[in-house]
Amino acid sequence: MAIQAPEGTRDLLPDEAAFWDRFCATATEVFGAYGYVPIYTPLVEQTELFVRGIGEATDVVSKEMFTAISGENLKRLLEGETLKAKKRLSLRPEGTAGVVRAVVQHDLVPQGAPPVKLMYAGPMFRAERPQRGRQRQFNQVGIECLGAEDPTIDAEGIIMLMRFFERVGIERDNMRLLVNSMGCEQCRPAYREAVRAYMEQHSEQLCDTCRERMATNPLRAFDCKNEGCAAVMANAPKITDELCEDCAEHYGQVRALLDGADVPYMEDPTLVRGLDYYTRTVFEVQTGDDRAQNALGGGGRYDKLAEEVGGRPTPGFGFALGYERCVLALQDQGMELPSAQRCDLFVACVDDSLRAVAFQLVQQGRDAGFVCEMDHQHRSLKSQFKLADKLGAARVAVLGPDEAARGEVTLRDMATHTEALVSLGEVVDELGRALL
Ligand code: HAM
Repeated sequence: MAIQAPEGTRDLLPDEAAFWDRFCATATEVFGAYGYVPIYTPLVEQTELFVRGIGEATDVVSKEMFTAISGENLKRLLEGETLKAKKRLSLRPEGTAGVVRAVVQHDLVPQGAPPVKLMYAGPMFRAERPQRGRQRQFNQVGIECLGAEDPTIDAEGIIMLMRFFERVGIERDNMRLLVNSMGCEQCRPAYREAVRAYMEQHSEQLCDTCRERMATNPLRAFDCKNEGCAAVMANAPKITDELCEDCAEHYGQVRALLDGADVPYMEDPTLVRGLDYYTRTVFEVQTGDDRAQNALGGGGRYDKLAEEVGGRPTPGFGFALGYERCVLALQDQGMELPSAQRCDLFVACVDDSLRAVAFQLVQQGRDAGFVCEMDHQHRSLKSQFKLADKLGAARVAVLGPDEAARGEVTLRDMATHTEALVSLGEVVDELGRALL
């Protein structure tokens, strides 16, 4: 059997590749208006970055990371050697840790400097069980803002994401924005302890995984899909009742700014997200029914992450959205991917002796910025017309021996089926008048 793409990965064939490019261009335009500029960080980072940044007890780090290893190092490992920390590499499961690492490494937010606003797009890797909307290699578009803890950053980020979704065509009614606050290092430890104690009281009703989570990461139990666990966790203590004064004030301001901007949202005190770096604001945009893979995007504030990866205290906020999930949502709404193919002019020859003239004409058209094509397989005139049709050519120039001898060509409008004789030197100008 012919070799297939690895499980959980997907080819973006030309129509979709063109759609991805436009999707990213829209992100650049929408996020650019808020001052976000691009950054690209490596697809592979030291494993340690993700362990410290995202958290050792998260599913993403403990189960889903792809380790990148050279043949030489694999041999060493198999021989029982342990690799130095620097040599332990992983494919990035998300973009935030790498961007924060780059900000710290290159000192992009010197003390007293205004916040830096960065955006990125590209593949992420998680060794998850593949299913609809869940892949092992998937594409994210994300932003990170470092150097400001003001709630205006959180609110404008959330508004910007909703604007983006609307710009790419996801209907407002097809999206739910959920917000919550995770508190800070002052209020969260007591809250985590309260949840743990509550889980202990109900441990009989919890699944094995959640019983394990009690010790390592009790808040993750809010995300458990097991019905018994969900019923128990629905009555667990709510973080929003336990926030310290500063966190409550911050959360209140974020909501007030969203209200002022007429952005509808729902508060969800059980929204905890799957990555450990969050402090204060967290949010998620969901679509469709209650399927597991219904998050189009999400993010929040991470005021301790820069320190976690060795930098000075630098507050941060960001989000990422899943490109493939957006395409699924658009397709569920009935969108078909537009064709990437365009052809402004197809030059057809009545006989082979005219191919050099056709070649020149095609070249002139391309140099003037038109998409031009000719036959490369010595087809009959009839087949050349079929090909022009297939390519969706707007105009076909037919080169016959008599016309060519006079320095002319018959230019056919494929939509109206009208024809006109045009001098060879005039074809490009004529295309400009007709198509631009
Ligand atoms: P996340 O929620 O893990 O957050 O991922 C963001 C989005 O990526 C999800 O909402 C989903 O649309 C998409 N996604 C995640 N996993 C998969 C998968 N296996 N297959 C397809 N799509 C997937 C983050 O990654 C954070 N770095 C967001 C952030 C940025 N927080 C602060 N700054």
